[in-house]
Amino acid sequence: MSIKLFSPEVLEEACHLLAQGEVVAIPTETVYGLAADATLDHGVAKIYAVKQRPEINPLIIHCHSASQAKLYVNFTPQAEALAERFWPGPLTLVLKRQENPSHVMPLSLLASAGLDTLAVRIPSHPMAQALIKAYGKPLAAPSANLSQTISPTCALDVVASLGTRVPLVIDGGPTTVGVESTILDLSGLTPQLLRPGGIGLEELEQEIGPIEKPQTGPIRAPGMMERHYAPQTPLRLNALHKKTGEVMLGFGPLDTILNQSDLNLSPSGNLEEAAANLFRMLRALDQQKTIGIAVSPIPSHGLGLAINDRLKRAATSSQ
Ligand code: TXA
Ligand code: MG
Repeated sequence: MSIKLFSPEVLEEACHLLAQGEVVAIPTETVYGLAADATLDHGVAKIYAVKQRPEINPLIIHCHSASQAKLYVNFTPQAEALAERFWPGPLTLVLKRQENPSHVMPLSLLASAGLDTLAVRIPSHPMAQALIKAYGKPLAAPSANLSQTISPTCALDVVASLGTRVPLVIDGGPTTVGVESTILDLSGLTPQLLRPGGIGLEELEQEIGPIEKPQTGPIRAPGMMERHYAPQTPLRLNALHKKTGEVMLGFGPLDTILNQSDLNLSPSGNLEEAAANLFRMLRALDQQKTIGIAVSPIPSHGLGLAINDRLKRAATSSQ
C-alpha cells in the first residue's frame, strides 16, 4: 500500500491498477472513495471484499459528466434539471438502468446488487474528475472505509481503516464537504430522499418541488444499515452540557465550559463548516477513549439534516 500525491505518473499507475480489477482510494469532494472499474465483476467484487461489505448493498457509479452517465441510465426531466444545477457535485441520482446499452461495455450487475436502477454521481473533485476522464469508464466507489465505520475525509483515515488492503491511495488533502452525497431516488412516481448529504433538501426542492422523506428514524437507502458511521465511544445527542467523564462535541457558541480535549464543529454555527469537520472530529474524540461524547443540538436545515442523520446512526450503534 502506498499513499501518493497526485501526478501524471500516479494517474497512469491508478489506471493500470483499475484495468487489472484492482481498487484505488481516491479523494472526492465529499469523502474518500474506494474505486474500481464498474464494468469488471472481479474489480467490483474486490471492493466488497476489501470493505467487508455485504454484497446486497449497491454501489454508486461515478462518471465524469452527465453525458457519460446517460450511457447507462434513463434521464427524466427532473434529473435533467438537477444535473444542470448540481453536477458536478455531492448529489447522487437513482435512475432506471438502461436495459441493454449495446454501445458501451455494460456495468457489472454486482455493482448495483442486481437492481434495475443505478445510483450515479459526478464528483467535482479535480483529481476524481481527472481519473475518470483518463480511465474512460465509470468507477464504482463506496466510501473508502471498512463497512459500518466512519467515512474517511483524508488519506490517513483510509489507511487507518483499510491498511494494506489497498494498493494505492491518492492523497488530495482533507475533503471539503465532509459528509457523503445526498441520494435522491428519481426512479419511481415521486422523488424520494434516500440519504441526506452534501446538498440540502431545500435546495433540491427549489429545483423540482416536494421530495418525499421518511418521517421517523434515520433515513435509509436500501442496504444502508442502521449500524453505520460508528465510533466506539457512546454518543449522547442534543446535550447542552457535558457530564463527568464525557468529552464534548459542540456546535455554535456554547455556554458550557470546554477544555482542550473538547471540540467544536463550528463555533460560529456554520453548518457547512460543521459537516466538513464532522467525521474528523468524531474520530479524534473517539480516540480519547472516554466514557462518552456529548454532542450539542444541531439545527436540521441545510446540511444539518445530513449531520443529524449521521449522528443518529452513530448514536444508535453505540447503544
Ligand atoms: O459521497 C458519496 O456518495 C461517497 C463518495 C465516495 O462518492 N460514496 C458513498 O458510497 O457514500 P457508499 O457506498 O458508502 O453509499 C452508497 C449508498 C448506499 O447506502 C447504497 O445503499 C445506496 O447508495 N445505493 C446505491 N445504489 C443504489 C440504488 N440503485 N438504489 C438505491 N440506493 C442505492
Ligand atoms: Mg459508506
